[in-house]
Amino acid sequence: MTNAVIECILSRSAAKYYDPAATLSDDQIRELVRIGTSAPTSFHLQNWRFIAVRTREAKARLSPIAWNQPAITDAAVTFIICGQLADSSVIPDRLAPLVEMGVMPAAMVSEWEIPARDLYMDHPQRQRDEAVRTGTFGAAAMIYAARSLGLGSTPMIGFDAEAVHREFGLVSNEVPVMLLSIGAERPGNWAQKPRLPVADVLDLV
Ligand SMILES: Cc1cc2nc3c(=O)[nH]c(=O)nc-3n(C[C@H](O)[C@H](O)[C@H](O)COP(=O)(O)O)c2cc1C
Repeated sequence: MTNAVIECILSRSAAKYYDPAATLSDDQIRELVRIGTSAPTSFHLQNWRFIAVRTREAKARLSPIAWNQPAITDAAVTFIICGQLADSSVIPDRLAPLVEMGVMPAAMVSEWEIPARDLYMDHPQRQRDEAVRTGTFGAAAMIYAARSLGLGSTPMIGFDAEAVHREFGLVSNEVPVMLLSIGAERPGNWAQKPRLPVADVLDLV
């Protein structure tokens, strides 16, 4: 089973070394985020925000609160992937374009909003879980888009979440889900790591 998409997925690995001279234009950064936002979100909440750290000055602010990981300084851009606590009250707004397009009947909006409210309201852990799921799906789409464009990527949890929250002005309903560096690689990155056998991770029921 193979095709270009599967080949892209199978050939990815996390980059450690980036070409520090290689940059991405703001339009290229916007395009990566546009692709990221095509990922699915629960009830179409789109509960995410992306902060693109790409200037020397912004990188210098992020680096010390992210374990001084070299990817932050060297990669063209490091995204602070922010997930927003799931909040069903945004659903009418998020679904309005579908109703306008005639894809979704207007009466169906409350059929999404009510179960979402029951699922998330008064369940802060679920709200936060959803923020992390949303950010992770968006980041994954960006990782594979980057790979398909010949760019490396590094998802990173090695950062001080409270400091990133403060330093980059995240608001109270935002969670810094992960950092994601993207840019042209330089030689020296590791070969792909072997995976656990499918038999060890798959239950066929
Ligand atoms: C959630 C998450 C957090 C990670 N955090 C870091 C990190 O802080 N620094 C780093 O160099 N790599 C980080 N990685 C990269 C992993 O070490 C890497 O994905 C793993 O070793 C598997 O290697 P591969 O991605 O090349 O297949 C992280 C990966 C994930 C998915």
